[in-house]
Amino acid sequence: MHSMKVFLFVAMTVLSPMAFAQKFEGLAKTPQMGWNSWNKFGCDVSEQLIRETADAMVASGMKDAGYRYINIDDCWHGERDATGFIQPNKEHFPSGMKALADYVHSKGLKLGIYSDAGWKTCGGKPGSRGYEYQDALTYAEWGVDYLKYDWCNTDGLKAEGAYLTMREALRKAGRPVLFSICEWGDNQPWDWAKNVGHSWRTTGDIYNCFDCVYDHGTWKSWGVLQILDKQEGLREHAGPDHWNDMDMLEVGNGMSINQDRAHFSIWAMLASPLIAGNDLPTMSKETTAILTNRLVISVNQDRLGIQAFRHSTRDGVEYWFKPLEDGAWAFMALNRNKEARKIAFNWKTEKISDELSKQTLSSHGPGYALRDLWRDRSAGTTRQLFVADVPGHDVLLLKLTPR
Ligand code: GLA
Repeated sequence: MHSMKVFLFVAMTVLSPMAFAQKFEGLAKTPQMGWNSWNKFGCDVSEQLIRETADAMVASGMKDAGYRYINIDDCWHGERDATGFIQPNKEHFPSGMKALADYVHSKGLKLGIYSDAGWKTCGGKPGSRGYEYQDALTYAEWGVDYLKYDWCNTDGLKAEGAYLTMREALRKAGRPVLFSICEWGDNQPWDWAKNVGHSWRTTGDIYNCFDCVYDHGTWKSWGVLQILDKQEGLREHAGPDHWNDMDMLEVGNGMSINQDRAHFSIWAMLASPLIAGNDLPTMSKETTAILTNRLVISVNQDRLGIQAFRHSTRDGVEYWFKPLEDGAWAFMALNRNKEARKIAFNWKTEKISDELSKQTLSSHGPGYALRDLWRDRSAGTTRQLFVADVPGHDVLLLKLTPR
């Protein structure tokens, strides 16, 4: 009799839906695109900001270009109520989160929110530790579509377990939520997070500079090139529905246009989520043009979901290749120097082959037609030697299409 009970218990545990619960599959078949409040606004978030941003995402053409998520980062929180349910800050979100989600949804967009696996968020607000199921339920009731889940104040917690708990809680709450893991790469999420979330941060925070490290004392944040260099060895872990997240964009936050263009191109080539981090209602024409460049976005959103690899480096210029659908390729020449460089690339003599995806670029026979994606014009074919001038801290981005 006893063994029968044990058997039933084990069978129920193993066969219960909980034991089989998965992340909500298919929400990020291509890298997610959206906006997040943190890089520009920090803790200064309000329902007015979110509404205006949603309006601007539509008016600027970003929605048409593929952006969907409007994500509120840290500091939206008020206190927990007497039974432990989290409330938004009443002063900054007087209409409540449900009304805000309804507004964002009415624009054909989706709403994202932020929490933390620890006792407090990085900004010192209530974290989800011990309240995971209540919080997931609350987000589902509000109509939230995306959760960025941070890793501050988690002493003694195991990362995989902490993120699994929230995955289970979201699943149980029942509303499909894109789960964005923000653990900064400290516990190698690329090794365990593929079935836990839809993306995981690979590094600490981005800093709004192209080539610098900002030392905060106890932690550092990283410029665009520094984040790029930290992606070494990670490309094999990413793919449809599970992406290496290089952090939110700083496009439009003060770098030069050349640097912003290079930054956006790098994120596109490495198939990182494209989450804008600037002030959408007031952004310049140049910033809008970068964020909405459909040809560049299509490199990021290519359905194969294969990250670019660095082929070679010469004179401070890096040559990157990304295999695309239908035998096409994207090519990026990234000039890390402050000064312009003349580049020459010989498609016929360079060996261009990707061990990971087993794709080889063969310039024998008809070869490929070249299109300059930022200028949207033809750039010859792979039968000719390719020569170009690349300004300092800028890129040349081509699509190679089989002829
Ligand atoms: C961490 C995250 C950032 C941001 C802040 C908010 O630093 O990595 O992206 O969410 O917390 O406090």
